[in-house]
Amino acid sequence: MDLGLRDRVVIVTGGSAGIGLATVETFAREGARVAACARDLERLQAAVEPIRSATGAEIMTLACDVTRPDQVEAMVRQVVDRWGGVDVLVNNAGRAVPGGFEQLTDADWQADLEVKLFSQIRCSRAVLPHFKARGRGSIVNVNAIFGKQPDRYFFATSVNRAACIALTKTLAREAAAYGVRVNSVNIGFVVSAQWENIRKRRAPDLEPEAFFAQFVKDWDVPLGRFGQPEEAAAAIVFLASDRASYITGAVLDVDGGMARYL
Ligand SMILES: NC(=O)c1ccc[n+]([C@@H]2O[C@H](COP(=O)([O-])OP(=O)(O)OC[C@H]3O[C@@H](n4cnc5c(N)ncnc54)[C@H](OP(=O)(O)O)[C@@H]3O)[C@@H](O)[C@H]2O)c1
Repeated sequence: MDLGLRDRVVIVTGGSAGIGLATVETFAREGARVAACARDLERLQAAVEPIRSATGAEIMTLACDVTRPDQVEAMVRQVVDRWGGVDVLVNNAGRAVPGGFEQLTDADWQADLEVKLFSQIRCSRAVLPHFKARGRGSIVNVNAIFGKQPDRYFFATSVNRAACIALTKTLAREAAAYGVRVNSVNIGFVVSAQWENIRKRRAPDLEPEAFFAQFVKDWDVPLGRFGQPEEAAAAIVFLASDRASYITGAVLDVDGGMARYL
């Protein structure tokens, strides 16, 4: 299926690792022009270089901390200066703040809100005028199933991803007037560096495979395994594409069947 993404201008936040890097690669293979951002520019450049060589795609690498409004504005400006506009924004940058309610400080809550909710708000605000100028655009927010199925073991994520999903739905209603679609991909468990950090914190003595297997058992994941970043990227790129032209305000779970809500 041709996704119709050739020469489209795509921004992927958090493009240097995990789901974001796989998303950069999938867009590049579709012939899109991709601007990838992350805080660590050196790591980002090293990560995308093999994709550039393999696909021949135009890929921009930009240092940007999505919790910094000035850096978000500068990042979008650089993309528009180079490619004349923007067609797609993937709000993927993020990380997990561990801890139950009694451990989480105000600073933890603020930091988690900044990297999850406010980054999506600011990046969306920065691209919207460019979407309006083209009369089209697509935003995909990468969230978590815990935003709809709260879990005390993922406390801050549960609370703040609920807000991100509400942002997705509400912005979809408003931005439809400009031909802009806004959707959410809700992740369950996908292998990434975040999980390596969780393993080191919770079970440093367990090998990664044994650690993942334990999580899959404890959380009763029907497909019996963690997802791969490429599997999340496929859903993100589809929702961003014209093949999803009548889909907005939707939430697509990429979770191996783990979520139990209807
Ligand atoms: N993997 C999962 O199981 C899972 C589950 C639910 C939700 N999610 C969500 O899915 C998204 C991707 O997760 P992942 O597991 O692929 O993460 P990952 O492998 O840890 O990669 C995170 C990416 O985000 C970037 N990033 C982090 N903070 C940033 C900031 N303030 N500004 C700009 N870039 C930033 C990182 O680069 P720098 O550090 O260089 O900035 C990196 O490129 C995240 O939003 C995560 O919360 C993942």
